[in-house]
Amino acid sequence: MAKILGIGNAVIDQVVLMEHYPQENSESRCISMTEQLGGNVLNSLTVLAQLGHQTDWMGTYTKDLMGQQLLTLMAQQGINAEPAQYIRQGKTPVSSVWIAQASASRTINHFRDLPELSFEHFARTEFESYDWLHFEARNTEALMGMLNLAKCFLTHQPISLEVEKDRPLLAELIPQASVLFFSKAYAQHLGFDQAETFLKQMHQQSPHAQMFCGWGSQGAYAISVDGKVFFEAATPHLTIVDTLGAGDTFNAGVIDALVRGHSTQEALTLATRLAEKKIQQKGLTKLFSNDHRVRLGNLNSLNAYKGNVIQPESLKHSVIVLKYKDTAKAYVNNCPHANVPLDSMYKVEIDPRALTLKCSVHDAYFNVSDGLCVAGPCHNQSLKAVPITIDDQGNIFLT
Ligand code: FES
Repeated sequence: MAKILGIGNAVIDQVVLMEHYPQENSESRCISMTEQLGGNVLNSLTVLAQLGHQTDWMGTYTKDLMGQQLLTLMAQQGINAEPAQYIRQGKTPVSSVWIAQASASRTINHFRDLPELSFEHFARTEFESYDWLHFEARNTEALMGMLNLAKCFLTHQPISLEVEKDRPLLAELIPQASVLFFSKAYAQHLGFDQAETFLKQMHQQSPHAQMFCGWGSQGAYAISVDGKVFFEAATPHLTIVDTLGAGDTFNAGVIDALVRGHSTQEALTLATRLAEKKIQQKGLTKLFSNDHRVRLGNLNSLNAYKGNVIQPESLKHSVIVLKYKDTAKAYVNNCPHANVPLDSMYKVEIDPRALTLKCSVHDAYFNVSDGLCVAGPCHNQSLKAVPITIDDQGNIFLT
């Protein structure tokens, strides 16, 4: 499995499902409202994590209430946010997504005042340790520097770029990537009404890159490095439940297929089927299982120095998930000393040599192996173990 770094924005999507799109100045009731992880790169990482890859995210975040929710949702999906840039000022970006069932329309309103990722932060990252870098084409001035730097230092790792809409500097950014994802809207914006002619034109500008372009209900197209165009037709008569994130799922499908050594044509087919699987279900989680187990992350995303704190809806207390040798341990996030969460003051630190974790409140130390307190005010008391199971892909579930 690959170690993948996704660079882009993290957003909370507030998805409001309604029967009809409301009239202006009216009052109505919606069918449901959910809050979920959003942002193109994060959606792709959510899918890649379920495919068993180690997924790291780099973007900007702040620590308002929504920002904390965002980090919890990421940890729950097995996405590591350690490489991200913390910003003190600003608010967590939110997308309000209104889905009207009667007209099958999707209306999106963005709120954003958080500064974008800086070039300096990216430059300090050990991006050479990744097998794949996936960028979103935004923040283009800084992105130019990031792509140039990545190209200088990476020897064989692919760099993919998702181009959704027209932005400044795109003509210079596109030739820097080895895998490109274009939206139909971008092709049409450039005046193309056929994907094939669009891809051939782009191939002339960037002949060393594989390119992919979804074409709505028709299917998707790709062009290989040697200039061959492929088309994969959409499966007819599918029951469409939710299209939000379908394009990002397609991109994840391509990355996964290419990592596994598939050809451009095979990647196109596999990614199209994966996107179809997504549109037949609500949301992006549990894409590969019909069971309803609660997922606590993936082994690949656990950190040797820090516990992941997850709040399953079904449990009163949150759960600390910890790396332990080549497996994981989980405990109720409640210190037996004062009956408070271990991360009340700051994150749950692990000493990887002593294999102990520390309560952030009064520095009690517990064995990672069995939760026993070995030093501190609750000596010889134990954290309560949470039973977990781990599947073949490293996904960790509540038992
Ligand atoms: S609350 Fe954990 S050591 Fe006191």
